[in-house]
Amino acid sequence: MSKLGTFWGIGVGPGPAGYIPLVAVEALQRADVIFAPRATTSESSVALQCLTGISIAPERIREIEFQMESDRSILSDHYTQLAETVAIELRSGHSVAYLTIGDSLTYSTYGYILAALQVLLPNLTQRTFPGITSYAAAAAAMSWPLGEGKERTLILPCPENAADLRADIDNHDIVILMKIGKRLPWVLDLLRDMGISNHCAFARRVGLVDEMLTTDVGNLNAAQAMGYLSTLLIRKNTREQRHS
Ligand SMILES: C[S@@+](CC[C@H](N)C(=O)[O-])C[C@H]1O[C@@H](n2cnc3c(N)ncnc32)[C@H](O)[C@@H]1O
Repeated sequence: MSKLGTFWGIGVGPGPAGYIPLVAVEALQRADVIFAPRATTSESSVALQCLTGISIAPERIREIEFQMESDRSILSDHYTQLAETVAIELRSGHSVAYLTIGDSLTYSTYGYILAALQVLLPNLTQRTFPGITSYAAAAAAMSWPLGEGKERTLILPCPENAADLRADIDNHDIVILMKIGKRLPWVLDLLRDMGISNHCAFARRVGLVDEMLTTDVGNLNAAQAMGYLSTLLIRKNTREQRHS
């Protein structure tokens, strides 16, 4: 039986080319096989788009479809199957890189695949390289500080209703709101209602085609701005009002 290959988890992007640590580029160049997840709803892998400018032989790349499913049992079956596909390569001694968008372990499919692989291959040698989170990229693109002094910052997948989000904003200074999707219209209404929309910032598809960046959230048109890859940076008070 051949020795197990090494498994590397690599965060890329979340959009801008070149947003990948040097040490992860080295692993990418050593990998025999590179798995690039692609959402079933998307025509191309965003993770691969983030590697623009890095030369990779196409025969090393395997695109794998993954579902945007919220049902835990369906997700779990899906990731077990994906892990089995990756394990075939590792068992034949190939080193494998698995790409994720942004940071590898922040709300990422990589966490599921790694856990499933460790069940299948308990002796697996693996290393996870951190990446740049989407909200760090969004903040940098708009020069928008994510927390100053003793401000409390909450990172949150968008709740299902305005009352819950209002409570989260009330209890923090900054709220980083991810996975907004179709909830954007009522989220924007809430920020306007609370009188805080003019100190918030919105980023859709940072660094990708159809990028939208704005600090004019009060005038944002929800129908035009909606999209899965969008993040809101919410500030409860103006920077001048903040308590240090
Ligand atoms: C499954 S999570 C992935 C998070 C990612 N691992 C990270 O480090 O940010 C998907 C969410 O990340 C955010 N996101 C990912 N890429 C983005 C981009 N290019 N622009 C804006 N938001 C993005 C959105 O909030 C989206 O709903």
